[in-house]
Amino acid sequence: MKRFRIQSKGPLRGEARIPGDKSIGHRAIIFASLAEGESRVTGLSGGLDNIATADAFRSMGVEIAFLGDAARISGVGLRGLSAPKKVIDCGNSGTTMRLLAGVLGAQRFGSRLIGDESLTKRPMDRIIQPLNARGTRIEGSSGAKKGVLYPPLYIHGIKERALRGIDYTLPVASAQIKSALLLSGLYADEPTRLTEPSKSRDHTERMMNALGIALTEDGLTVTLDPSRANLRWRGFDLHVPGDPSSAAFAIVAAAMIPGSEIHLPNICLNETRTGFLDAMAKMGAAFEIEEDKEENASGEKVGHIVVKHQETRGTELRGELIVRSIDEIPILCALAALSEGVTTIREAEELRVKESDRIKVMVDMLRAFGVECEEHPDGMTIVGGAKLRGATLNSHHDHRIAMTGAILGMAAEGETIVNDTDCVGTSFPSFVELFRGLGAEIVEEKVRT
Ligand code: S3P
Repeated sequence: MKRFRIQSKGPLRGEARIPGDKSIGHRAIIFASLAEGESRVTGLSGGLDNIATADAFRSMGVEIAFLGDAARISGVGLRGLSAPKKVIDCGNSGTTMRLLAGVLGAQRFGSRLIGDESLTKRPMDRIIQPLNARGTRIEGSSGAKKGVLYPPLYIHGIKERALRGIDYTLPVASAQIKSALLLSGLYADEPTRLTEPSKSRDHTERMMNALGIALTEDGLTVTLDPSRANLRWRGFDLHVPGDPSSAAFAIVAAAMIPGSEIHLPNICLNETRTGFLDAMAKMGAAFEIEEDKEENASGEKVGHIVVKHQETRGTELRGELIVRSIDEIPILCALAALSEGVTTIREAEELRVKESDRIKVMVDMLRAFGVECEEHPDGMTIVGGAKLRGATLNSHHDHRIAMTGAILGMAAEGETIVNDTDCVGTSFPSFVELFRGLGAEIVEEKVRT
């Protein structure tokens, strides 16, 4: 097991080269595996979550060779996967499990998907129910809450050649549900029509459109009509832009540590992902964004961000801003703790079913640093402006919790220890090295268990 040891030091300065976006990485590996011919995907983060997706396709006969941050993927076509020889281990990755279920539910062969301790506690009925409604035969497992289905997933092969159409309103804004259904829609003979309560990240839609699998969009509704879409696409070249969710740790750290100034090139600026920047602007943070002229081959906007320290103030976060910053709420809580005044976060109950219960875990973490806060069923209230004192924390197997703890430690007096930090490797393997390069005092230690 690993742990971080952190001390506050001076300002953060320099260039932060952020690893590739985790969500786009998953989708690039999936669409390259189902393409006809060879693809070259560069800029991958090297994170374990993307590797879990790659390993799953390898076990189904797709050749994938990694070299540094690049992968050469020999696609087998939409109908070319073969039965996996063993159980597919999705590790910590909810995206791997939920998106794969969309593809695997449509195959003639059966498969079994498992996950680690954290993933095994996450709800899967949200994908099982709509997928089965269109003809897949997926079984989940019982767990902590009655009536909720969890991993492992048992996916039975189907006899029919095609799944049925579906016209479905998602109960929550979730790119994983939407993507699982769009992927299964590639194997359907009728349209897949999905409506979201608020727009979740749209990388799947952008990649499908970029590959010629044309979708139609109308407000919060997206439709894949298999009679009109191109379901045979060729291998492609794609560079995965920097992950805004990983960038958020460096951006918030620089915003809150006096004297800091950092710049971050090549960051994905998709508007469904940049809610945290809008939240930071509301809080009075100082940053500038310069968009690159050309779009990425995956149909994504990319650009350069420069951020400086400046005093910030509390704010209220709710509604679509929560959806567009769902993975950045923990690090925004850290900024709130260092801002003058009160921050209220509401309508964020989805945080309870992430890699950990991020509402409860963040309230506990902030209190450990000496911050006054109150837990609500759907969020929290944080009283900013207190002097932070170093704390000893646990990651709860959640990478974003471990990294948020480390950033708070950089702004606290005394030493902070974050235990069980192996999970950081799921999305941001270069986290420690990158922050040391910017001037932070953080070390990673191995501890014997
Ligand atoms: C993701 C979607 C989001 C997000 C997760 C990645 C994706 O989850 O929190 O980190 O790549 O589709 P939900 O779909 O559960 O909102």
